[in-house]
Amino acid sequence: MCGIVGYVGDRQAAEVLLSGLARLEYRGYDSAGVAILHDHGHDHNHDHDVDADDDAGNGNSNSNGNGALTLRKSVGKLAALREALDAEPLSGSVGIGHTRWATHGRPTVANAHPHRDCSGDLALVHNGIIENYASLREELRREGHSFLSDTDTEVIAHLIETYWNEQDTKQPTGSEYVQTSQPGLRLAAAVAAAMRRLKGAYAIAVMHRDEPGTIVAARKDSPLIVGLGQDENFVASDIPAVLEYTREVVILHDDELAILSADGVTVLNTCLEEQEPELLHVAWSLEAAEKGGYEDFMLKEIHEQPTALRETLRGRLVDGVVQLSELELDDAEIAGLNQVFIIACGTSYHAGRIAEIVMEVWARIPTEVQASSEFRYADPIIDEHTLVVAITQSGETADTLAGVREARARGAKVMAITNVVGSRVTREADGVIYTHAGPEIGVAATKTFTSQIAALNILALKLAQSKGTLEQRVIEDIYDELSSLPELVANQLLHQDEIQACASGDCCINACTSLFLGRGIGVPVAMEGALKLKEISYIHAEAYPAGEMKHGPIALISPEVPVIGIATNAATYEKVISNIEEVRARDAQVMLVGTEGNEELRHYAEHVFYVPEVSELLSPIVATVPLQLLAYYIAKARGCNVDQPRNLAKSVTVE
Ligand code: M6R
Repeated sequence: MCGIVGYVGDRQAAEVLLSGLARLEYRGYDSAGVAILHDHGHDHNHDHDVDADDDAGNGNSNSNGNGALTLRKSVGKLAALREALDAEPLSGSVGIGHTRWATHGRPTVANAHPHRDCSGDLALVHNGIIENYASLREELRREGHSFLSDTDTEVIAHLIETYWNEQDTKQPTGSEYVQTSQPGLRLAAAVAAAMRRLKGAYAIAVMHRDEPGTIVAARKDSPLIVGLGQDENFVASDIPAVLEYTREVVILHDDELAILSADGVTVLNTCLEEQEPELLHVAWSLEAAEKGGYEDFMLKEIHEQPTALRETLRGRLVDGVVQLSELELDDAEIAGLNQVFIIACGTSYHAGRIAEIVMEVWARIPTEVQASSEFRYADPIIDEHTLVVAITQSGETADTLAGVREARARGAKVMAITNVVGSRVTREADGVIYTHAGPEIGVAATKTFTSQIAALNILALKLAQSKGTLEQRVIEDIYDELSSLPELVANQLLHQDEIQACASGDCCINACTSLFLGRGIGVPVAMEGALKLKEISYIHAEAYPAGEMKHGPIALISPEVPVIGIATNAATYEKVISNIEEVRARDAQVMLVGTEGNEELRHYAEHVFYVPEVSELLSPIVATVPLQLLAYYIAKARGCNVDQPRNLAKSVTVE
């Protein structure tokens, strides 16, 4: 979830880029940079093309012909980039800028965008993940390209360079080799040719010294818009970046490119055929635009789950082999493991509880889960035959970090699962699996939770494949089903009316306490539903295994206590229904999460939140979504600040 801004017009580009990037700060980032094409008419930097901060070294720009293409990059907040630009200003009215939220490679100046090609004439910024970057980099290396960063992005710059250069030497064969004087078209042709080689998600903005008044932008599976001004145009990953200058935007679609100049914008497909642009007049306030039109970050992040899941799962099964090189354990070492021990806190702990069940069923390996705050003082029985999995979206949770140290001191191998590249857990664990869910700003974990579940499923599949506990066909079927979840969740999110209506009813808004019930893998789902409700609505919520209810919690049941049951299709479905009948007999208000098509559930509940049918072990992701929304809408109806609930912080860096 990095931020892209590009500008071409009459103003000083650096100012426009900095103000646009500042508008994208809410997306989260850990480094930033700009590339500006120096205008000959301006008076700075005549004698140095290479940026002092550009310790990535790829500042080998030329001084003949057009103006120099110069970079400024810095680690940390935009203030650091502004300081660098104040110290050594860059003048020019065409530029691209970027805030990077690290995914491949740590947050360093070398890894910060923009990235250049070998010639230094091309600069590029990118959001997204290139899945096949490793093989492309190898191929480009063999062709003589050298790389100065650990990023997947730099590969795109060199790939475009290849196609740019080919246009000098090859006869035109089809649209990728364009011989035309239309500004920007040669660069667009090189970008289009590169796009055909890229697998994954990307939004890019590219500039080239030999196409001085233009920027080429392109996208696939990653958002990008063009802002239309008077004698100036903009490109950005999100609307807030351009709202100060214009409210007229073009929404780029997948596999579309745009050539921007001060005079106009042309939208093309990858065959370089002109497309009818989708125009939008933005009537939102800036604040609403930062939230993508959603009322709160939490709601936005709930809706980002399909994308987040896609990113987590991308490229994890290739030719039938589960891809998890991060694990750094070969089959023999995996065979030598005698247990998995999961440590985590809060919502991440619930992801661990789900993984515990999945690991044992798929990989037949004894798995234990403990809250990190308990584990660190518990004298746990672990050794070099234990794989410890530390789950923490922030990567900064003090108790989990202490648990990681404790586990390593006892000889265990520690894998971290986190969403934040370069966070502390990534430096302390032996290996890291990133969830790639994008920054999560709302304090309540939503998309990071479902992404953690997806990552843990991949880990369980990997262990199962190495240990031979699942047939190959079954592994492939599970992965296929996992891959269908983003689409299913996207559909679920289109139908929230029942949840919203239920949440605004008296029974929910005025509840003092509530009970979440589930069985099997439904128990941690119920726990997560209860945590979401209590942390943002301040209604007490307790989660219990449904079968345990009669051993105590049933005493709480009254007409004022809403009961939320997880009754999706599962081996224990009938048992859950019996437990629900017990609470109904005591006049509880019942809401059920159930599988689409199961109409009988309506006999047992005032409200049924239907979720798509998936295998029992994959059901937590789809079953959690309505619980997130229920908590959200109840909290909103009670007037709570859902993004920043009282007493809570996004990362808990103290014990
Ligand atoms: O960053 P972590 O995943 O380690 O955070 C652990 C908990 O503090 C966190 O999951 C917390 O419970 C959630 N914000 C609740 O929504």
